[in-house]
Order: sequence, then C-alpha cells, then structure tokens
Amino acid sequence: MAKTATSRVDKLLSSMGYGSRREMALMARAGGITLDGADLLDVTRRIPVTRDLPTRMTIDGEPLDPVVGMVILLNKPLGMTCSHKETGPLVYDILPARWKSRNPTISTIGRLDKQTSGLLLLTDDGDLLHRVISPKRHVKKTYRAKLARPLTGSEGDLFASGTVMLEGEDKPLAPAELEVLSPTEALLSVYEGRYHQVRRMFAATGNHVEDLHRESLGGLTLPDDLRPGQWTLLGEAEIAAIFQ
Ligand code: URA
Repeated sequence: MAKTATSRVDKLLSSMGYGSRREMALMARAGGITLDGADLLDVTRRIPVTRDLPTRMTIDGEPLDPVVGMVILLNKPLGMTCSHKETGPLVYDILPARWKSRNPTISTIGRLDKQTSGLLLLTDDGDLLHRVISPKRHVKKTYRAKLARPLTGSEGDLFASGTVMLEGEDKPLAPAELEVLSPTEALLSVYEGRYHQVRRMFAATGNHVEDLHRESLGGLTLPDDLRPGQWTLLGEAEIAAIFQ
C-alpha cells in the first residue's frame, strides 16, 4: 500500500496560500487552527496529508481548503483571460485570493478565449490536466456558436469529413459534429483543442462567430444554476465523468 505523505503543518498551510510559516505560527498561537476539534498550537508538528483533512481541520473557523487534486468548474464570464501572463481581468481573480499562492499552482485545463464564455475547468493536478487536454483522449468539447451569417447547409458534412485544414496548419482537423439549432446558431462538438479552433472552423466556411459559449466537456455539462462568474468544486465522480 502507498505510504501517506506527511508534512509540517506550517509548511502545508503556507503551500496552500494561507500565509507565511511565521504567520501560521502566530495564527495557531491565537487559537486560529484546529485539528479534530482541538486547538493545534504547534505548527512544526508533522501530520499525514490526507484527502479528509478539510473535514478535520479549520483555519479561522473555516474548513481547510482541499489539499490536493482540486478541480474547479467555473462558468467563465466574457472579458476574462485564462493566461497568467496577460494584463486585465483574469479568471484566477474570481477565485479566493490565497489560491494564487498555492503550490502546486492552479491552472486552467485548456483555455477559452477572452470573448468565449462557459464551462472552464481549473486544477492543481498536473497529471489530470495533461490527461484532459491530450489529443489521444478525445475528450469532447461542445460549443454553442452564434453566427453572423446563415449556415449554408454544407458545414456539417465538411466538419465531419476530417479533411478541414485550418490556415497555417499542416494537419487536417479530426472529424467534428455539427447540430444546427437555427439558421444562425449551432452546437459544434470537437475532440481537439487547437488555437481559436471553433472560430477558425467557421471562418473556413466564410462565416464569422459572433458569440461562443462552451456548454460541456466530456461528460460534464455546465449546471443551469451556475451563473457567469460562479464556480464549484468537483467531487471524485464528477472528475471521473470528464472521461466518459
Ligand atoms: N474555439 C475557439 O475559437 N475559442 C475558444 O475559446 C474555444 C474554442
């Protein structure tokens, strides 16, 4: 059986963004940290780092954040970027500020353009991130696109053909599925994650995407009651559903 890793409490909390080790020592001395219902005063103590720690430990009266393998489902609003490097509002600004200091860092699983809304996953689990974005996994992503011009009727067959070559690329797109909702609205499901893929696919047919929204990823669908800018933490069954 794999051995459970242990960590000093101050080191663990500091890596989770709660503050410096010194700040953790001061907080503990003030009675701000509890473990299994009792004040934890000595932050140099080593404890097993288990998934159930958030049910056993409190910080300033609040349950501890998830320790490892955190997966966040965000309804990304328009106008926010997924890159850490860009200026302007970032999707990370929506999450608790301390999470920006977590190590391992929280990253988006793939990206949505600044002007794309909808289902976006973020995680501190690098293995999971790579599994979801790996082209070998064929994780389905479904987008609702509103178009500037009416569809001609030939787009579905073209996208399904696996022959579409995007400008500047040397490998055709994998087959994708189009469901027409109205003359100027469609659901497009793709199994890759190329740069600006959906916008470029419609551009290749002479059309232009005016609004783009991701509705689902793998077996996960954006919940109706999750408003733009709201997020939720996924449980194990929901994480597994990504690959269904
Ligand atoms: N395709 C795009 O063109 N943009 C996105 O944000 C996602 C997929």
